[in-house]
Amino acid sequence: MSTTKHLIAPSVLAADFARLYDDVQMVNNSEADWFHIDIMDGVFVPNISFGFPVMQAIAKHAQKPLDVHLMIVDPDRYLKTCKDAGAAVITVHYEACHHLHRTLSAIRELGCKAGVALNPHTPVSLLKDVLADLDLVCIMSVNPGFGGQKFIPQTYTKIKELRELAANVNPALLIEIDGGVGTGNAAALLDAGADVLVAGSSVFGAADPIVAVKELKHIESG
Ligand code: DX5
Ligand code: ZN
Repeated sequence: MSTTKHLIAPSVLAADFARLYDDVQMVNNSEADWFHIDIMDGVFVPNISFGFPVMQAIAKHAQKPLDVHLMIVDPDRYLKTCKDAGAAVITVHYEACHHLHRTLSAIRELGCKAGVALNPHTPVSLLKDVLADLDLVCIMSVNPGFGGQKFIPQTYTKIKELRELAANVNPALLIEIDGGVGTGNAAALLDAGADVLVAGSSVFGAADPIVAVKELKHIESG
C-alpha cells in the first residue's frame, strides 16, 4: 500500500549555503513537511555547521515548521534562543543532558515540541521514564556530525523496540530517523514504525530535489 502519512524533513545541512535562499524556496515548493536544521558546536560532535543567526535567516523565508536538531553540549543554555530563532521542534541529545526531564519540560514551556535524539550506541530503553514527556524521538542512523554517511542497519531493531515501548504510554510519539535515509531504505523504515524521515544528501544531492522529496513522500511501504 502507499502511505503519505509520514513526514519528510529535508536536512538543510546538505544545502548549498551560498544559495541558501534558493534551497529554502525549493523545500517550500516541495512536498516536504518540515525543515530539518542541524546545529553543531564542535564539542558534542566533531564538526561545526551553522548557528542561530543563520537559522533565523532560514526561518524568515521558510513556510514550513523548523525541526531543530541540537548537537551541542549543555543545550539548556540555548533553548530560548532556539525558540526565538523560529524553532517548532527542539531536539536535544540524550548523551548531552544531565537532567533530561528538566530540559524537556523547559522546551515544552517555551511552546515547542520536545524531542530527544539517541546516538547509535544508546539503547531506546533508556527513554522509558521520559516517554510521556516527549513528542519526538530522533533515532540517529549514523554517528552525528556529518551528512552523507552510511546508514546503520541496527536502526530497524531500535525503531521496533521504541514503538513497542511507547505503545501504551505515548502512542502519538513521533519516531524520526536521521542519517543515510533515501529511497533505498525509506519503505523498510516506515514498515518498522518510523514517522519522520530526515533526508540530506539524498534530497539536495539529487538531480531534481523536488522529485526526490516527492518520491520519499509517496514511497510504497507494507
Ligand atoms: C547528521 C545530521 C543529519 C544529516 C543527514 O549529523 O544530523 O541531519 O544532515 O544527512 P544525510 O541524509 O546526508 O545522511
Ligand atoms: Zn540531524
